[in-house]
Amino acid sequence: MALAIRVHEQSLSPDQAALRDEALLGFAASPKSMSPKFFYDHAGSQLFELICRQPEYYPTRTEETILRLAAANIAALAGRNVSLIELGSGASRKIRLLLESLRPARYLGIDISREFLHASTHRLAADYRWLDVHALCADFSQPLKLPAEALGGQPLAFFPGSSIGNFDPEQARDFLRNLHQALPVGSGLLIGVDLVKDRAVLERAYNDEAGVTALFNLNLLERIRRELDSDIDPRRFQHRAFYNEAESRIEMHLVSPQAQQVRIENRVFDFAAGESLHTENSYKYTPASFRELAADCGFASAAMWRDPAQLFSVHFLRRE
Ligand code: AVJ
Repeated sequence: MALAIRVHEQSLSPDQAALRDEALLGFAASPKSMSPKFFYDHAGSQLFELICRQPEYYPTRTEETILRLAAANIAALAGRNVSLIELGSGASRKIRLLLESLRPARYLGIDISREFLHASTHRLAADYRWLDVHALCADFSQPLKLPAEALGGQPLAFFPGSSIGNFDPEQARDFLRNLHQALPVGSGLLIGVDLVKDRAVLERAYNDEAGVTALFNLNLLERIRRELDSDIDPRRFQHRAFYNEAESRIEMHLVSPQAQQVRIENRVFDFAAGESLHTENSYKYTPASFRELAADCGFASAAMWRDPAQLFSVHFLRRE
């Protein structure tokens, strides 16, 4: 007789439980909102990789060019016997631009998406046979405990992509203070930061012609529909992204063009016509405003590089 298993449909995985808690809380709030960290399921991570290749989305290629050109300088600042720690390693593509110049003794990739983390660290280990590769699945918006093996030598934390822009200034401070706690004195922090600039350039980057950013945003609702007990219909929402100059941030929303009700489990939420779910903030800094934030959290500026058009910045900070 075949072994029978009984699947308990109501039991959610930890990822799904977190999504459920966030959705129930965020849909009940006013204004309605959810954290952008829920974008990154498998489909969302793939859509993000696609965003990075859109012609309007300048951050990725600009940062890559800066890193390529600054690699030798970065290596000189980093010192010897480097432990390279990548926060939000994702596809671990940018790190490859540094590995040959830096020749770190070890590499630790940290990411919230386990599947992506394992796949990308395996690829890295296969491609760089001399590199001692470690992986840690963690949410680095929470206090971080770095494994001792990863802290030998001269630690250099790498936080590319202007991911810090997802935090509001207070969360960014908490994040940098957590990192300050986790790293020994003298550690480096190499961090990519998107710059304040012309509104049109910013808004184009989050409203690409091909509609990939819209799909990325709407995938959050797709996830809720797929993973939770909900009747939400992503087709009844629209992507909206604009620059909020007073707050120096791009805001992404999912707008309900018509009044509608959405059920999640046994709760029903009302959307008025034109009401939105706020899904992401992406803060932009000037070189000075970012240096000030970092200095407040115990990181001193050692160097900063920009592209000639001043679209994007990469800072080398030293933990004091
Ligand atoms: C990964 C947070 C840096 O804010 O530009 C891209 C995410 N959202 N397009 C950004 C994102 C829409 C991205 N970060």
